[in-house]
Amino acid sequence: MSTSITKVVFPIAGLGTRFLPATKAIPKEMLPVADRPLIQYAVQEALEAGIEEFIFVTNPTNHPILESHFSANADLEATLAERGKTAELKIVAEATLGDDQIKFCYQDEPLGLGHAVWCAKEYVADGPFAVILPDDLIQAKPGCLKQMMDVHAQRGGNVVAVENVAPNLTNRYGILDVTKEDGPLVEAKGLVEKPQPEDAPSTLSIIGRYILDGQVFAHLDKGLTGAGGEIQLTDAISATIGEVPFHGLRFEGTRYDCGSMYGFVEANVAFGLERSSQSQEMREYLKRHL
Ligand code: G1P
Repeated sequence: MSTSITKVVFPIAGLGTRFLPATKAIPKEMLPVADRPLIQYAVQEALEAGIEEFIFVTNPTNHPILESHFSANADLEATLAERGKTAELKIVAEATLGDDQIKFCYQDEPLGLGHAVWCAKEYVADGPFAVILPDDLIQAKPGCLKQMMDVHAQRGGNVVAVENVAPNLTNRYGILDVTKEDGPLVEAKGLVEKPQPEDAPSTLSIIGRYILDGQVFAHLDKGLTGAGGEIQLTDAISATIGEVPFHGLRFEGTRYDCGSMYGFVEANVAFGLERSSQSQEMREYLKRHL
């Protein structure tokens, strides 16, 4: 059943209006959590899962900023080398991808997540591929996408990351109509995008990680709109249930919703404590303020 998955799509064409003015001149995905931008966590999670090609669905304004972050910076590297800054050189190397590994395409209108993925079709249509929404930052070992790859290797089809959300929050997520639970794996007979709590078939929600079969394009190609008048990825995946296997994975790890100010600050605390050499001082600071 194992099919190697080497491509990931990052749908990141949004304006990041919730983070204005921070996002006036830089893309939301370039906002740092602790020491690195959100998009770099997504790239690193994908690399760990075996991804080799990174497709950014963005817009003409954000394109050069993202490209510059992941390109080699010869002047910076020369200066760091001259100064013997080996650790910093390694950090810079980790943020550098080969030119042939990065592809850009544009989503010209905000027509929904399904439309954003469809914009990358020319790069991924021929096989299974991953999608990461960098706003959903997941602290996990191994990373969430790697956990999903292991499921895909066994089961194939479409695999999405899932977790339970509070009953009053179902209208922010794609929700599973669950039919079967098998340890951390969940099967469903359908998916509903952002149902009101009274209409939600469960509280089990899709978190921003997907492994998708090329079959989703048979549905995305139709350009049908769903919740909020948008072309929903959830609807395309739901339509493939019965055509290809579908599994939700209750991943192991903690997810931070960096699309909201609260989740973003929470992530900075969690990753700051994990990454900083001053984590002890940070802990004491937090204790003093609680
Ligand atoms: C998108 C998807 C939704 C999913 C969510 C995860 O919604 O449409 O199904 O549950 O991401 O973060 P968005 O947050 O873009 O509105």
